[in-house]
Amino acid sequence: MDKLVLQGGKPLFGEVQISGAKNAVLPIMAATLLADGEFTIHNVPELRDVKTMAHLLRIIGAKVAFQNNTLVIDTSGCNYFEAPYELVKTMRASIYVLGPLLGRFGQAKVSLPGGCAIGARPVDFHLKGMDKLGAQISLDAGYIKAKSAGLNGGHIHFDIPSVGATGNILMAAVLAKGKTTISNASCEPEIVALADFLITMGAQIDGVGSSNLTVQGVKQLKPTHFTVIPDRVETGTFMIAAALTGGEVTLTESDPSTIGSLTEKLREAGNIVEQNDRRIYVKGAEKNSSVDITTSEYPGFPTDLQAQWMTLMCLAGGASMITDTIFFDRFTHAAELKRLGATIELKKNTAIVTGVEKLYGAQVMSTDLRASASLVLAGLVAEGQTEVHRIYHLDRGYERIEDKLQKVGAEICRSDGGL
Ligand code: UD1
Repeated sequence: MDKLVLQGGKPLFGEVQISGAKNAVLPIMAATLLADGEFTIHNVPELRDVKTMAHLLRIIGAKVAFQNNTLVIDTSGCNYFEAPYELVKTMRASIYVLGPLLGRFGQAKVSLPGGCAIGARPVDFHLKGMDKLGAQISLDAGYIKAKSAGLNGGHIHFDIPSVGATGNILMAAVLAKGKTTISNASCEPEIVALADFLITMGAQIDGVGSSNLTVQGVKQLKPTHFTVIPDRVETGTFMIAAALTGGEVTLTESDPSTIGSLTEKLREAGNIVEQNDRRIYVKGAEKNSSVDITTSEYPGFPTDLQAQWMTLMCLAGGASMITDTIFFDRFTHAAELKRLGATIELKKNTAIVTGVEKLYGAQVMSTDLRASASLVLAGLVAEGQTEVHRIYHLDRGYERIEDKLQKVGAEICRSDGGL
């Protein structure tokens, strides 16, 4: 198994080009199942999750080619409507094929998801929503089985805004007969991107970017060309890297408007952040001040940056509180950061981090995707050598992270023989 080996202590300087968003491209790939023909999708990051979704689409019968960050997907031959356990267990986002398969083919069998080890992640909203559209849903031997002789529009209200369920229901509703309304829908940029993609396919969706979506079902959709939005989590991870190392980094091909909550917190902690259209410049403070964060739905502080913020706070002056309201037990990185010398106390869904003068290199283990990123960040500043093991989690969601970090001066390399 591969590991990343870092020698800490180098401030980062230079430019990093941000890749396309993993969390946008995965539902978009699933959405291609809604029409017959050839799609071209640009700015696709080369990630393990993208390969897993391509594999799933091939199982369903699509032809998928991937070159130079461009995906060409031909959905003409789709004739198998199942997402098997072997794939779904490695990538939760496989659940996104449920809506399109049901909407277009009237049937789907999808394994209940696994994926990131970040606690209980139910899919009840997805299933209740499909039920509201008239699908017959059953659970059988770890699989969701869904059937319909033709979906009908309906009203769906989410008790909590769910990114996954909003995307799935949206994809099921675009071919349903009549009008579907979704209230308390997610407004995340990745949902906006999915809606924009569906609209270029011919879908009729109103309220995009708001928490009330209205879909007027159409009879048929057509293939399209699309460019994936920049990855706001990768952007945020590199912004924190600049702040943490006291460096000066400019991110290019990004979208500052999607990362406002982090920008505000970084400034509050004493860092300089400047931005224009597609570029973000971060000059790290000599020492960050401690700043509390609470994760929440967009445009709040993203749960996907909670672990990375924790690393920043490990070396900040004073104590800070980090509360996750999206996933209550998303704190597996805390124990690993403590191995590097951090002082962190967990109380329910809050971590209390007391800044220390130094972190010290050690062997640590990735437990999920964003936790892995927080450990790599820690390795950038820990004294001596840090080895981050089980980085297959990292490869699910960061395109060539070690190349990008090396380019701005980090001492990091990949080697095999990890734990
Ligand atoms: C979530 C994040 C998303 C992030 C992704 C991966 C939010 C709102 N969503 O998306 O930004 O990229 O994880 O880390 O920040 N829920 C249910 N039943 C359901 C679906 C969800 O109870 O059927 C609950 C979840 O437990 C959670 C909340 O709703 O507390 C939001 O979950 P959801 O947005 O669906 O999760 P993901 O789509 O995985």
